[in-house]
Amino acid sequence: VDLQPFNTMTIAAQAKYFCAASSLDDVREALVFAREHQLPILPLGGGSNIVLTGDYPGLALHLGLQGLEFETLDEGVRVRAAAGENWHQLVMRCVAMDRGGLENLALIPGNIGAAPIQNIGAYGVELKDSFEQLTAMEIASGELVTFSAADCRFGYRDSVFKGAAKDRYLICEVVLKLSNDWQPAVEYPALQQYFAERKQSQKGLTPSAIANAVIAIRNSKLPNPVEIPNTGSFFKNPLVSSTKYTALKLQYPDLVAFAAGDCWKLAAGWLIDKAGWRGFRRDGVGVHDRQALVLVNPGHRCGSEVVALANDIAADIQHKFGVVLEPEPRFYP
Ligand code: EPU
Repeated sequence: VDLQPFNTMTIAAQAKYFCAASSLDDVREALVFAREHQLPILPLGGGSNIVLTGDYPGLALHLGLQGLEFETLDEGVRVRAAAGENWHQLVMRCVAMDRGGLENLALIPGNIGAAPIQNIGAYGVELKDSFEQLTAMEIASGELVTFSAADCRFGYRDSVFKGAAKDRYLICEVVLKLSNDWQPAVEYPALQQYFAERKQSQKGLTPSAIANAVIAIRNSKLPNPVEIPNTGSFFKNPLVSSTKYTALKLQYPDLVAFAAGDCWKLAAGWLIDKAGWRGFRRDGVGVHDRQALVLVNPGHRCGSEVVALANDIAADIQHKFGVVLEPEPRFYP
């Protein structure tokens, strides 16, 4: 089966086996098949955070589980969402109910099942801020296991599912809790600028006003994957020591960075832009012209070309700034 329709980078690659699962029983059955044939599994959600570097020798398993439930509690609302539900649609459902907590995460591509893996985040908010628990199926046994927020070990674009539990579970359901004492989170510079430019008071902002701001900001710099194939930020923002930060800041006074505990998080987009890559094109792959952190694949080229460009950029950033960039999407196989 050709996986091109299942990844937003639109990379053509063949999966040896493919299964579209729409129930827990389907997933269980697929796992039995994979076990019997000793196949590795490529879990597919929205396909917005994967780079296919070649054909996949195992089972590509599309997790299409559907279902959204809202439960009213004394202290807020609990949302139970099946893995195959679309993330942005869930955000907009909550916004329509005037429930705050997810609005800063509007327009993030992909499905709910993938959200905890990299603890999706944007504009000062992360999934972990409203996360309660999730249910995952253990690949080896087919059993359902519950993970609390602590079990998930969330970090910046990180969780246990990228570490100790990597490739061991399929996330089937995510439970979020949106609290009654929601407060708008509008500290992020781009949001501050958005409201200042429109002379909009930051008092009494509704979830819907913030969602609209986030949507406008994202649309102004991030390419819509339906029009220009991409996987969002291609690299994580690197953490550096304060010594390293001070040295760089001295050399580049316009460097963009945020304090992160004892370290500093550098804006990788700024580094790549400063190095001259923004808008770069080579054989159908390139660097987005309005956000240098996003690699694009308008020519629908294969994964090796995307990876070659990413490697060239990372090598250049290492050479120019002495900073190591780590890719953010997952590479398969
Ligand atoms: N910048 C440049 N040139 C560029 C790109 C960025 O100078 O080409 C500067 C910007 O002017 C800004 C700073 O770098 O001062 C940061 O840029 P931006 O606000 O666009 O955010 P980012 O750090 O590049 C991160 C996330 C995004 C998320 C935004 C908003 C990561 C890897 N990326 O990007 O997440 O939407 O913040 O919170 O943390 C994603 O993960 O796929 C993603 C898009």
